[in-house]
Amino acid sequence: MKQITRDVVYIGADDADLDLFESQYIVPNGISYNSYLILDEQVAILDTVDRRCGAEWFAELEQALGGRRPDYLVVQHMEPDHSACIAEAMERYPALRLVATERALRMLPLYFESFDFEGRTQAVGEGDTLSLGAHTLQFHMAPMVHWPEVMVTYDRADRLLFSADAFGKFGVLSHDEDWACEARRYYFNICGKYGNQVQALLKKASKLDIAKICPLHGPVLEENLGYYVGLYDTWSRYEAETEGVLVAYASIHGGTAEAAEMLAGMLDAKGAGKIAVADLSRCDMAEAIEDAFRMNRMVLAAASYDGGLFPPMLDFLHHLQSKGFRNRRVALIENGSWAPSAGREMAALLDTMKDIERVTPVVTIRGRMKQSDLGALEALADALLA
Ligand code: FEO
Repeated sequence: MKQITRDVVYIGADDADLDLFESQYIVPNGISYNSYLILDEQVAILDTVDRRCGAEWFAELEQALGGRRPDYLVVQHMEPDHSACIAEAMERYPALRLVATERALRMLPLYFESFDFEGRTQAVGEGDTLSLGAHTLQFHMAPMVHWPEVMVTYDRADRLLFSADAFGKFGVLSHDEDWACEARRYYFNICGKYGNQVQALLKKASKLDIAKICPLHGPVLEENLGYYVGLYDTWSRYEAETEGVLVAYASIHGGTAEAAEMLAGMLDAKGAGKIAVADLSRCDMAEAIEDAFRMNRMVLAAASYDGGLFPPMLDFLHHLQSKGFRNRRVALIENGSWAPSAGREMAALLDTMKDIERVTPVVTIRGRMKQSDLGALEALADALLA
């Protein structure tokens, strides 16, 4: 429990030993499910937590309530990492009313088939308000940040923006670490596809006087808010944040890896900026996705396989495709001992993405890199940086 302002308390939970968030993202430092309580003439809970932390959350809530009863449960997002405890909360507190978007209310039976919400819900739309006494909550729709039913909530009294998944981050609150690193990995993997919708939310937020941002994951942002909003603006415009190159390779026996490392060294020597190298067979895929969006240039190096593309690269490109990757300059290296096919496959997938500038020609390695390949690699590095 942590005091955010005089009347607003953090009652979320740290999930430190979760193996994979959304059953796909490695979270070395866990994740927090944030929930807040506003104690005014009337009492409002903002979101619940994942069922893994339900018991802890109810205990925190009871303690923060100090014997009072909550009047409203504001549900900003129906994804189960925040909505899992809704029915149990409604059961425990019979006078509790659920406030959410029309679309969120329609989703309730998907998750709580046997619970009867009849007469206990209140739909809100863009600009609607809810007075708790001194605090007036103002609701703003944020569809597809990150599901269609999402809204954010602005507390006029304390100038707090409860921002749902926006401005969230991997990592428990008890672990002190740089915000941008894990917030960026979270953003591109979870909201990356929805840049336009994030832009729409930023536009709405720019009209509000915000003192603190209270997201559903990660720390409450209290100072220098322009820094966080600026990063979100860059990310959601699909602009590169960092001058640099991601060199991502998928290598079977090390020949492709050798070429990729060699090219990374050449790029570094030529002053390409930050260089990140990802072994797609072994690295955290979510981190490679993050770096692809972060840098302004990318090199893909892959082995040919079964007349196509070595699967770790295929997987990476499918991830980029589904996250709406765009607006970058990309160079390709393929390897093939008898019939190189990786370059063709990578190019075809990149060509389905928006505003990708492919550097030509593709450099072809046969088996292991030879002295005679160095010239082609140098030329590729120059062409990528041109
Ligand atoms: Fe943190 Fe989209 O749920």
